[in-house]
Amino acid sequence: MNEQKIMVNCALPYANGPLHLGHLAGAYLGADIFVRFSRLSGTEVMFISGSDEYGTPITITAEKNNKRPQEIADKYHSEHMETFRNVDIIFDKFTRTTDAEHVKDVDEFFMNLLEKGFLEKRYMVSPYCRKSNRFMPDRYIEGTCPYCGYKEARGDQCDNCGRTLDPIELIDPVCKIGGERPEFRETEHYFLMLNKLQDSLLEYLGTKDFWKPNVLKYTKNFVSDGLKPRAITRDLDWGVPIPINGYEHKKIYVWFEALIGYITGAREYSTEIGNPEYWKSFWLDKNIKSYYFIGKDNIPFHTIIWPAMLIAHGDYNLPYNVPANEYLRFQGEQFSKSRGIGFTVNEILKIADKNSLRYYMASILPETGDSDFSMREFQDKVNSELVDKFGNYIYRLISFIDKNKLSIHKPEKLSGENKKILDMFKEKFDQYSQELYEIHIKRGLQIWLELVISANQYFNNAQPWKIIKENKEECNDILYTSLKIAQYLILMIYPYVPTGASEVWSMINNTVKIEGSTFEKLLSIDEFAIKKQNPPFTKLDFGEVINN
Ligand code: MF3
Ligand code: ZN
Repeated sequence: MNEQKIMVNCALPYANGPLHLGHLAGAYLGADIFVRFSRLSGTEVMFISGSDEYGTPITITAEKNNKRPQEIADKYHSEHMETFRNVDIIFDKFTRTTDAEHVKDVDEFFMNLLEKGFLEKRYMVSPYCRKSNRFMPDRYIEGTCPYCGYKEARGDQCDNCGRTLDPIELIDPVCKIGGERPEFRETEHYFLMLNKLQDSLLEYLGTKDFWKPNVLKYTKNFVSDGLKPRAITRDLDWGVPIPINGYEHKKIYVWFEALIGYITGAREYSTEIGNPEYWKSFWLDKNIKSYYFIGKDNIPFHTIIWPAMLIAHGDYNLPYNVPANEYLRFQGEQFSKSRGIGFTVNEILKIADKNSLRYYMASILPETGDSDFSMREFQDKVNSELVDKFGNYIYRLISFIDKNKLSIHKPEKLSGENKKILDMFKEKFDQYSQELYEIHIKRGLQIWLELVISANQYFNNAQPWKIIKENKEECNDILYTSLKIAQYLILMIYPYVPTGASEVWSMINNTVKIEGSTFEKLLSIDEFAIKKQNPPFTKLDFGEVINN
């Protein structure tokens, strides 16, 4: 059921603003949980993301703040790395698209496609602003989506129906800077000949009926109109240069080059670990599955454009699965920086710890539809599940063993209720593994929660505090069973709350660490070293925040 080796890639966030809870819910938290689960299952994983530093999102922010684009990218690149660390999202490599290595990879990719005839020069009409005397980036143009009628569609994409757009397709286009209707002028660019790739792409997509329905829906929207050549260069100053003479004033379009960052990241990581060829075992071996965790608005780029680019290039593995999530709302409303709705990740970490945050977020991931982040539910779920049910089970068990100074050994044979519950745990653990293998993060957590409830019931019914006076051996069996149960519970929650789970683990085991080991090894441990301390979960109290 589990793979030997997989590659997990996470959308490269634009380095133009703080990460907010929507980012975590859309892509990053699920990816980290899946990676930690896969590693514990014995799978070798390469986990890559990075900063997307070119593109108009960066230049818009730079202009607003009177800074150079690189200054903005530098600031948010370091900030993002720190934010991810603050919530235990740990990539093998968090690359940058402004790295020289990246430019090298993009050049190679561009020239490869050009030589194979998948890039062609063509004229296109582009929005031109008469006020500022320049061509305007697609994102600076807004208007009505010709497909779904959404009024605030951008020139590059409609956020309502998910289609990628050309600014000229917009009904009533307006330039965000000049506030006028842009003029459409001819300009020469390189085009990716998606039409030539259509058949192979459809064949590839034909094997993807196991993708999530929301991902298939957005992908089909895109393909149903037929694939047209798409410009992959732009009239811009900020971007990767085009590796051809005479194009000094144009740049490669951010979406074409940023995707190649997944390869750059893998290469850079391999160099850093002193094994420069390592990345090839992921990118060139066709048996290796690759997973792309991305937000909803990135779907067509990862299910159409990127596979098309990879097919055209020829050497590399195509995406195996693209488990994109839907959107997260905040207490019924859309996250909005300007209206002050929702939190950035670093803001919420001032009032809640990372274990609690990861736990609650994982329980509400918008896996199959939009979902809602509510402060009251956050507080209630953490307090009742993580603290009262799980923390308390561990605390009662450890305290009892500690108070009676017991050393617990493996019984010769387990029978009755003890055997029954461990058999049940084993079965449920297999179900949990299957769910996580299929990237059903929320269902995995539900199974865990059911087991925590069973664990408490078992302990209450077994009444070791009574049995200890009657039959020492029977009491040992109960506590041994309870500790095996604790092992399951700790290891199963580890992918979700790694720091908290590791601390709880150290209360029953002082020899092997979870990180770097496997479920198989850790679940076979039969000796316990009990160290009494408080479980690292404390209750949340948002008082004010909730009443407001
Ligand atoms: N920067 C894009 C976003 O935040 C995602 C780019 S994914 C990449 O929406 F792979 F192209 F880098
Ligand atoms: Zn639309």
